[in-house]
Amino acid sequence: MENLAVIILAAGKGKRMRSGLVKVLHPLLGRPMLSFPLEIALEGLQPEKTVVVIGHQAEQIRACFPDPRITFVEQKEQLGTGHAVSMTAPLLEDFKGTILILSGDTPLIHVQTLTEMVKHHRDAKAALTLLTALREDPTGYGRVIRGKGAAGKVQKVVEEKDATPRERGITEVNTGIYCAQTPFLFQALGALRADNAQKEYYLPDIIESALRKKKKVETFTAPDPVEVMGINTRAELVQAEGIMAERVRRHWMTEGVTIQDPGSVYIEPSCRIGRDTVIYPNCYLRGETVIGEGCRIGPQVEIVGSRIGNRVQIRFCTMITESLIADDAIVGPFSHLRPQSQLGKGAKIGNFVEVKKSRIGPGTKANHLAYIGDSEVGAGVNIGAGAITCNYDGFHKHRTIIEDGVFVGSNTALVAPIKLGKGSSVAAGSTVTKDVPPYALAVSRARQKSIKKWAMKKAKSKGPQG
Ligand code: UD1
Ligand code: MG
Repeated sequence: MENLAVIILAAGKGKRMRSGLVKVLHPLLGRPMLSFPLEIALEGLQPEKTVVVIGHQAEQIRACFPDPRITFVEQKEQLGTGHAVSMTAPLLEDFKGTILILSGDTPLIHVQTLTEMVKHHRDAKAALTLLTALREDPTGYGRVIRGKGAAGKVQKVVEEKDATPRERGITEVNTGIYCAQTPFLFQALGALRADNAQKEYYLPDIIESALRKKKKVETFTAPDPVEVMGINTRAELVQAEGIMAERVRRHWMTEGVTIQDPGSVYIEPSCRIGRDTVIYPNCYLRGETVIGEGCRIGPQVEIVGSRIGNRVQIRFCTMITESLIADDAIVGPFSHLRPQSQLGKGAKIGNFVEVKKSRIGPGTKANHLAYIGDSEVGAGVNIGAGAITCNYDGFHKHRTIIEDGVFVGSNTALVAPIKLGKGSSVAAGSTVTKDVPPYALAVSRARQKSIKKWAMKKAKSKGPQG
């Protein structure tokens, strides 16, 4: 948007969160709260300047957002929202255009509401426009005080702590979002006084200075009070996360994904899901996870930063982290794919199988109770129940190479580094320490001896029992 600068206030500690972490870095669907208003500004509004006022844990906030389009300004002492905006004066005093002020703790706001508000402000040629909302329960918010009459003009905002019981009954609230003309804004900030219950320089007090100077003050009412909800407490954080999560689920349902028992499914906004995929209850999809079409996920599955192909089934109680899964694979129930695991087309990883940093070829099966770590497994391999790659000698990790068509018998230990040649077999119960040539059978276990009539001999030597 042309002639627009955005200021985001994010210097406060967020005392009501009772946390060691500054409020605006608390995560909402896996991303810091501040990233939402920032994304709306940078991607949605594309202003000429974006200035973020920081104070508490300033270095952590800078480190989280290394975007060159953002200018950070420090407010060393948090003396109130008005004081915070005045910190931007050296950068914005000479800016020719509209300044939009957002709050770092109001992450649910929609771009459309802001664009309409800026338009309203400009069309009305107002010095200041205040975004308000009508809330059934206005507790905690500044109340909008209007003059007499139905369309009474805004006179001031009274903070909850300074409000009379009658004022507290007002349900129109200040959202902490404003549009202002540049020369007016900084002049008005210079005249603020901290004569209130919190001894702070309140930003909304500039309304009164505008009116004293006969400047035009407008209000614009947000269509939905939910989008302008401010987060000050843990309870509000959880509530906002729930609202955001619902938005994400609705989006994917409109895109053709079935989500059964949606309230139990958590999907971070960075995930992508293909159509005709069904997500069963209690699933968590996190990070840059991409799921293809026609998959069945869950119930009770967690997938983090992974790419899943088409028609894949991820069954009950499975956890997958930073892995790649090709089409038609089946994983679970009760499987664990740790980072850098890759499954080929149609591969099967079954119950109580753990895979780590390994490539599993197409059509390969490890259906029960196995550990495959630091391995390269070819196509059409069968890994028996209880097969373990012994990849760690206490100092270093070693690789296991299992070529195409190998049959690994049950309860075997493959001591890495080791290579099982193409088409070879390992007999059940073997501990294999040397490479196995292609098509060979490796057996390393004591030969079985059956002692004839042993039970009778035992009975004789011990005498009658009981
Ligand atoms: C503020 C408004 C209130 C409004 C509400 C909407 C004031 C005085 N009150 O109250 O009218 O209804 O938002 O959510 O403005 N901040 C700074 N520096 C400071 C103080 C705050 O940068 O010195 C930042 C905070 O980090 C936060 C934002 O400003 O992101 C709002 O501050 P907060 O303390 O949450 O204000 P509220 O009490 O919610
Ligand atoms: Mg707040």
